[in-house]
Amino acid sequence: MADVPKVPSVAELMSSPVVTALPDETVAAAATRMRDERVGSVVVVDGTRPIGILTERDLVRWGAAGVDPGASKVAEWMTADPDCVAPDTGVQAAYDALASHGYRHIPVVDANTLVGIVSMRDLLRIASIQPVVHPGEIEAPPGLEGVIVAETEVGDVRGLEGFYHYRQFSAVDLADKRNLEDVWHLLFDGSLPTAAQREAFLAEVRPYRVLPDEVSEVLPSIAAGSRSIMEGVRTAVSLLGAVEGFRPTLDIDHAERRRNALQVSAAIPTLITSIYRLQQDRPPVTPRDDLGYGANYLWMMSGEEPDLELGRAVEQYQMTTIDHGFNASTFTARVITSTGADVAAAVVGGIGALSGPLHGGAPSRALDLLDAIGTVENARPYLVDAVTRGEKIMGFGHRVYKTDDPRSLFLRGVAERIGAAKIEFAKVVEQTVVDVLAELKPGRNLYANVEFYAGVVMDHAGLPRDLFTPTFASSRVIGWSANVLEQAADNRIIRPSARYVGPPPPQPVPDED
Ligand SMILES: CC(C)(COP(=O)(O)OP(=O)(O)OC[C@H]1O[C@@H](n2cnc3c(N)ncnc32)[C@H](O)[C@@H]1OP(=O)(O)O)[C@@H](O)C(=O)NCCC(=O)NCCS
Repeated sequence: MADVPKVPSVAELMSSPVVTALPDETVAAAATRMRDERVGSVVVVDGTRPIGILTERDLVRWGAAGVDPGASKVAEWMTADPDCVAPDTGVQAAYDALASHGYRHIPVVDANTLVGIVSMRDLLRIASIQPVVHPGEIEAPPGLEGVIVAETEVGDVRGLEGFYHYRQFSAVDLADKRNLEDVWHLLFDGSLPTAAQREAFLAEVRPYRVLPDEVSEVLPSIAAGSRSIMEGVRTAVSLLGAVEGFRPTLDIDHAERRRNALQVSAAIPTLITSIYRLQQDRPPVTPRDDLGYGANYLWMMSGEEPDLELGRAVEQYQMTTIDHGFNASTFTARVITSTGADVAAAVVGGIGALSGPLHGGAPSRALDLLDAIGTVENARPYLVDAVTRGEKIMGFGHRVYKTDDPRSLFLRGVAERIGAAKIEFAKVVEQTVVDVLAELKPGRNLYANVEFYAGVVMDHAGLPRDLFTPTFASSRVIGWSANVLEQAADNRIIRPSARYVGPPPPQPVPDED
């Protein structure tokens, strides 16, 4: 860190002599002197004693009042009895006096005699001055854990109860009883649809699943140039917004924002499966209207007639991951929307955040764990060894849930229902992990999270591991979009602060070598 310069007193900083005015002078005359002397204030004196200060702000008030310039006297417009400091006052104390009152100039007085004036700008030249903390400023913990930053009607997570909901309904009950488009309607339009509303909603959504020609034509290059499907989808969503002429959310009404959000949400499964296929030199497959959401997803991935039971299982996984409180990608999408940017920009940001391994980028790692353990006999020794070495067991533990993750319980049931190949082994491993963690990490309350059984379900449905995270994104986009619509409807730009901890500014800028 740079050396902190010695802190001087105001006597070493102040401007002297001071530009002054008399109380019975006209404001016009004082203003002319301020302009000529290029100062932002004049100190009003009675002899050598300061009795007031007339600043640029007073001149603005005076100008706005529209009074006769020749008739107004300085005494009527000045601030009387200004706060003053002595020449030996330390700069920090002077700065505090200015900042706490919102003043920009403070007269320096020695034994009742005006000897100088010091300005905020003079003080800011001193490197060691600390900024004054804004009275409304709140210190948030790193990671914003436990900090409420918005109000939402989209949904919430109750970690201690092991419960989460979309609007007023349990998310797991919705995944059990409804189809994905019903929940989509719930999140976009506020209610579960009637049969007629469902048909109308599907009729609205279906055309948007077909990609515009301008996107389809470029997709092979995007697929070839991307190292992962997530990377390709990120680029393609940006292009989709551009070719469809998405405009800033700030400039459009709710109906247009909703249309944009519907189009992006509908197009993402097509983009994911198309990029996946193109990366294997296979042509994309057109979506089908006669299939449910999950079955159509399997169809677009494989181009083969899907097993409807497996399609339903994938759809239920997708339904459980639509929304989950103010997670990192949802927050990102809302921050971008809060700037008034377009819907595609917000979704691109969401995809970027979700692609990180600490958020959505790791569901295949839980399955890798099952492979690594291999046999029931190996489970305990493998896990004890891993935890003792300080490794994290993938698919276990959660920032919010300190009891069973409801998604894990639900997906375990789905995996059992479809007779997933790895389910029996996975259940043994789950119990062993919970036991080993309870022994070696007592009191941490570590249980299986969504990723553990999600991998088992997706694997059995025939999804390859590099489609796991994109499949998470395929439905989370609906949650992002619902949050985008909510943010745009009642917007205030999200703009927090950071504590500056570098060398004290402003240091003198060194001349070039
Ligand atoms: C999800 C996760 C990031 C939550 O992290 P967090 O809230 O910051 O919790 P912490 O990392 O502070 O964990 C608290 C304690 O439990 C331990 N712990 C947490 N998850 C663990 C796991 N999966 N395996 C072993 N130990 C674990 C930590 O080592 C820590 O122990 P310590 O108190 O001795 O330091 C974390 O549990 C994890 O890394 N899990 C594995 C990865 C995973 O499954 N991610 C998908 C999440 S949906």
